[in-house]
Amino acid sequence: MARILVTNSEGRPGVGRTAQMLAQGAGGLDAIEAGIREVEADTTIRTVGRGGWPNLLGEVELDAAMIDGNTFRGGAVGALKGYLHPISIARAVMEQLPHEMLVGEGAARFAHEIGAETTNNLIPDSERVWREWFEDKVPAAARENWPDVPLAGLCQQAIDPEKGMDTTVFLSLDGRQEIMAGVSTSGWAWKYPGRLGDSPIIGAGCYADTRFGAAACTGTGEMAIRAGTSRAIVLYMKMGLSLQAAVDEAIDDLRQLKGGLIQRITLHAIDRNGDHRVVAVNAEEQLTYWLWREGDDAPQAEPTEIVTL
Ligand code: GLY
Repeated sequence: MARILVTNSEGRPGVGRTAQMLAQGAGGLDAIEAGIREVEADTTIRTVGRGGWPNLLGEVELDAAMIDGNTFRGGAVGALKGYLHPISIARAVMEQLPHEMLVGEGAARFAHEIGAETTNNLIPDSERVWREWFEDKVPAAARENWPDVPLAGLCQQAIDPEKGMDTTVFLSLDGRQEIMAGVSTSGWAWKYPGRLGDSPIIGAGCYADTRFGAAACTGTGEMAIRAGTSRAIVLYMKMGLSLQAAVDEAIDDLRQLKGGLIQRITLHAIDRNGDHRVVAVNAEEQLTYWLWREGDDAPQAEPTEIVTL
């Protein structure tokens, strides 16, 4: 079976590196980590790593996860502040701790302990856009007492500068025929502090099983958490559904969600035969993803399918 890599449009800065490593025989975890590190460090990608949009308090909180489809060991960090490469810290959680996920201060403590690189993830442009929102939308009384004010109402009214809530997701079938997944995100712009999306939650934002396939989501993480979307796609394949039908079934699960935040969510999936499917659910515009298959000179941008719930 041919090697394959699927990543979303935000994967642009890293897709070439991951594809090259897979072509040269690297394992999926190494190749995915290397590619995601490039995305995290690229400040033109506004929903991942350095340059990501901040939360309501103007602080950048990052989430990331990896899963090994052979062992089902996962590593995840959530609401991590001040570090450049959350994906590498997530991998270190997987490889160095008897845990699967660390969040907030504990994640930062562990990052410090392993000597992870620190940085200020809030770039001047993000700070400017956040400050414009703060001056324009936060009532004067709240601005005077900031940050000791209730934030729940502001969270309800927050307007995402990009309608983003995006992420980068990488799925690979490597030369050893092993299937791996990794994801990284700054989450929902203007989110409530401490909000975790689907990305650090193994089974929601990503899942991999070398025997069947892998899946990962971008977009509205709240939906993927509620439907357990990535695990569901892989489980549907385990139960005998084709890749096509497994993704359809997961879309039907999303259709059953009532209330809460229902917006765009994009499902990415690969199977053990080297096939793939990417569907943007509720997308208002055409989206693209990156595809590299063994034998391709370079990754190609492909249009996603679009399905409306
Ligand atoms: N899918 C990314 C997030 O909701 O944070």
